[in-house]
Amino acid sequence: MNRPRLKAAGLISLGLAVAALASGCDLQENADLDNGRQLFIENCGTCHYLKEAGTSGNLGPDLDAAFANARAEGMDQDTIEGVVADQISHPRYTDPSDPSYMPAELVTGQDAEDVSAYVGSVAGVPGIEPPTAPGGPGGQVFANNGCGSCHTFAAAESQGAVGPNLDEGLQGQSKAMIEESIVDPNKEITQGFQPNIMPDNYQSTIEAKDLQLLVDFLYDNAGKPQKQK
Ligand code: HEC
Ligand code: HEC
Repeated sequence: MNRPRLKAAGLISLGLAVAALASGCDLQENADLDNGRQLFIENCGTCHYLKEAGTSGNLGPDLDAAFANARAEGMDQDTIEGVVADQISHPRYTDPSDPSYMPAELVTGQDAEDVSAYVGSVAGVPGIEPPTAPGGPGGQVFANNGCGSCHTFAAAESQGAVGPNLDEGLQGQSKAMIEESIVDPNKEITQGFQPNIMPDNYQSTIEAKDLQLLVDFLYDNAGKPQKQK
């Protein structure tokens, strides 16, 4: 599928967007927004703040702030999506020797479309909040950071199978041990699993108070039967 590549296209497609809104036409009908959200959290959230995704990276611009004005001035979702797709395939280079510059093609093909459509649907939308996750505040941190995509944990209603089942693995572990597994995952590898699969930058991407909520949530619920489904 061809995507608008030029930011200037926004001016031309403005009329189209108004018509599309009026008819309720979904311009992103081929995109999987859930997949886009998950990939954004994994690949982009380390550098970008985006409210709906619950990410708080600060190496790159705050994407809500980046698109809020454009959106307020009438730039439509499809145009924002095009800007994001363009940035993913051809990032503007600030200084390539600066480690914080954005690598090209972190996601490609359909995945890149899904991420672009997802960002286009949420960035700079006034009043937007991340979806409410099961398990209270600690469950929210678990969900916002994509832990459930790799881990099964009943209290979070997650069924990921890339990493160990945390209901089974964390029973009998202290809070300090759980915290260490999160911030320094390669220090000790759970038997039967590979190193370097779990992201090793949570120390910098999860705020200290959220990390505490997360550790308490895992500690309090590991292996406990869940009252409500
Ligand atoms: C290593 C850090 C890093 C990662 C990872 C990263 N970005 Fe960026 N991003 C940046 C930086 C730095 C800029 C600013 C570049 C510039 O303006 O020259 C930027 C700029 C952008 C912009 C333009 C914002 C504007 O103000 O116009 C968009 C959109 C964007 N990134 C989306 C993404 C998406 C989507 C992903 C994941 C596929 C991603 N970024 C991953 C660092 C990153
Ligand atoms: C991309 C997949 C992936 C993501 C995302 C991920 N993990 Fe993991 N995790 C793993 C793998 C694989 C292991 C086992 C290897 C190791 O110990 O590093 C693991 C191990 C763990 C352990 C140790 C388990 C034990 O039996 O001692 C804990 C605790 C944990 N993860 C918590 C989390 C939390 C909390 C998050 C979200 C902030 C998270 N993980 C995100 C893949 C992931």
